[in-house]
Amino acid sequence: MGCENTGECHIGSEGDIVTCRKVIRNVATAAGFGMTDVTRIVTAVSELARNVYVHAESTGMMRWNILQQPGKVGIELIFEDQGKGIADIDQAMEAGFTTANSMGMGLSGVKRLMDEMLISSELGVGTTVRVVKWGRIK
Ligand SMILES: Nc1ncnc2c1ncn2[C@@H]1O[C@H](COP(=O)(O)OP(=O)(O)OP(=O)(O)O)[C@@H](O)[C@H]1O
Ligand SMILES: [Mg+2]
Repeated sequence: MGCENTGECHIGSEGDIVTCRKVIRNVATAAGFGMTDVTRIVTAVSELARNVYVHAESTGMMRWNILQQPGKVGIELIFEDQGKGIADIDQAMEAGFTTANSMGMGLSGVKRLMDEMLISSELGVGTTVRVVKWGRIK
């Protein structure tokens, strides 16, 4: 998959979305997340990588980090693009809001699946979405 060992994957094609999913499935499993959480995390990756591909005209990256805290482990995912940006982040987070004639369920779904979510965006400059999922160390 190429990008697995570098800590960041480029998002420039449909195939890159699949790669992002596979990489994070492996990383989250290795970090000790159970199957249910791995599925949640991978679903979030799908939505956020797809948003980069669709809305930011495929000019972005996914980066990840494993976070260690006493008794828990986290996975941090950062999607960064140089696309058109989001005019109103609160509106973009609303279930059903879309500018692409789609379902508008991506960001609101990710918010439910992950423990932390932060979007920063500037019109004409780009968008960064940071999400974290925490799990207990077994
Ligand atoms: N990376 C991004 N760059 C620019 N705009 C974005 C980005 N991600 C989301 N948006 C904006 O936020 C809106 C809502 O995103 P969301 O993922 O919830 O829905 P969608 O992508 O339109 O539809 P769905 O994900 O259900 O197919 C998008 O329609 C788009 O306007
Ligand atoms: Mg979407």
